[in-house]
Amino acid sequence: MKPRVLVTRHVYPAAIGILQEHFAVDYQDGHGVMDAATLARRLQHAQGVVCQLTDPLGAEVIGSAPALRVIATIAVGHDNIDVPAATARRIVVTNTPGVLTEATADLTWALLLATARRLPAAERFLRAGEWRRWDVDLLCGADVQGRTLGVVGFGRIGQAVARRALGFGMRVLYADPEPAPEALAQELRAQHVPLDLLLQQSDFVSLHVPLRESTRHLIGVAQLCRMKRTAFLINTSRGPVVDEPALVAALEEGLLAGAGLDVFEHEPRVHPGLLELPNVVLLPHVGSAVTSVRSLMCALAARDCVAVLRGERPQHPVNPEVLG
Ligand code: DGY
Repeated sequence: MKPRVLVTRHVYPAAIGILQEHFAVDYQDGHGVMDAATLARRLQHAQGVVCQLTDPLGAEVIGSAPALRVIATIAVGHDNIDVPAATARRIVVTNTPGVLTEATADLTWALLLATARRLPAAERFLRAGEWRRWDVDLLCGADVQGRTLGVVGFGRIGQAVARRALGFGMRVLYADPEPAPEALAQELRAQHVPLDLLLQQSDFVSLHVPLRESTRHLIGVAQLCRMKRTAFLINTSRGPVVDEPALVAALEEGLLAGAGLDVFEHEPRVHPGLLELPNVVLLPHVGSAVTSVRSLMCALAARDCVAVLRGERPQHPVNPEVLG
């Protein structure tokens, strides 16, 4: 009998083709999100699951899937999966880094520029028919050229964001537990500094850390207070990296100039305070939303699912210790 693989939500079709060559595929081809109880039920006889960042794969769900050998997520972030629980059961977890790096860095810059130059407000103004003439002070925003960019988390995406800053003649600071190799830091003209110093000196602070217990609310009241009153916070990583109520309060009090957010603490809910603020640009978690990129992510997850179930090494194991 063919191994059984659950695909929890709609994916690009290539992924289903890859999986159907080898497995009996239980495909939930819709945009609805399964809750933990439904996932547990559908996983009862599955050897593999191709999931998304919306799927709650906690210890209990994993515990109720006795035959499960691989969890392949269509995302680089895997905070929705209890990886230690999977590892304890020798279940391989895979993700899809690399293919989304440039798209996410592009979106980060689009968001940074849109926030600094107030693009959504300008477009709303025009569409509302309020544009009467050119005025010297109409919808003026903040400078980007020559300013200081602080990159928090200097992995693939953080580095790609820093590389783009070269074109804007920016000074780049980065904070990361691991300093980058000297040659790379030189190429990107990026200086390794402690987070507090980065927050004090940056005009734009852009977050690129994975969500872990150590990075939950990495940016809270104390960190927001350290930022310049003229600075902007950009987040395309994970919502809970920022203490959202603290950010709303800081923006309301004018402790910083604005924020560009693609991710939120309780997606798809957005803090009502954010919706009220004029100096905030809000996007619905679209960092990697480029058709070709998402298609590659789906195919990559499907291929890694196949690899594990065929006893081969997957391309992107999150817990390689399970592979021995
Ligand atoms: C990820 O991959 O983790 C993003 O949030 C979605 O592309």
